[in-house]
Amino acid sequence: MSIAIRIAKAGDLQEITSIFRDTIRHVNSKDYNPLQIAVWSGAADDTERWLKRINDYYFIVAEQNDRVVGFAYLSAANYFGGLFVDKDLQGKGIATRLLNDIEDKAKDNGHDIIESDVSITALPFFEKHGYKVERKQRKLVKGMVFENFIVSKEI
Ligand SMILES: CC(C)(COP(=O)(O)OP(=O)(O)OC[C@H]1O[C@@H](n2cnc3c(N)ncnc32)[C@H](O)[C@@H]1OP(=O)(O)O)[C@@H](O)C(=O)NCCC(=O)NCCS
Repeated sequence: MSIAIRIAKAGDLQEITSIFRDTIRHVNSKDYNPLQIAVWSGAADDTERWLKRINDYYFIVAEQNDRVVGFAYLSAANYFGGLFVDKDLQGKGIATRLLNDIEDKAKDNGHDIIESDVSITALPFFEKHGYKVERKQRKLVKGMVFENFIVSKEI
């Protein structure tokens, strides 16, 4: 399987938000309750916010045969803001490719530590890649409490 990593563009919006919505509904749903999944995946509809992320952040996509199959972004110079892979293409190393690129960019930005807050679902993946849990947090999104983990790694 040949995967290319490139900078996201506004035209990727539809594919990015679909991956976000479907991955939460099908993958994260094993760790969060139906109401949490509805609120979280509903954030896919805030297209203005996604366009702003694509334009303002270091935002990359993984592409296979001209199709976007995953994405990741830095929401600050060394803050890993998000990482999502197509629900049907999990476990094929796509997130690892995205993560390596994001860490390289944080290093290029002059940082030797990268930070993030990650879902219960993604924590084992991040731990496998050397991230350490700083603390558990309860994040409030649209009146709904989400448990996740603040993590960091020396890069
Ligand atoms: C976490 C996530 C991004 C990993 O994507 P992926 O493309 O499947 O990851 P990779 O294939 O690169 O995984 C690499 C390794 O981590 C392991 N791994 C991935 N997810 C794992 C999990 N949830 N638990 C345990 N191991 C996991 C894989 O087995 C693989 O191990 P291997 O190299 O020994 O075979 C993906 O599961 C996802 O989209 N999750 C839902 C969205 C999410 O929670 N994102 C983060 C919140 S911001």
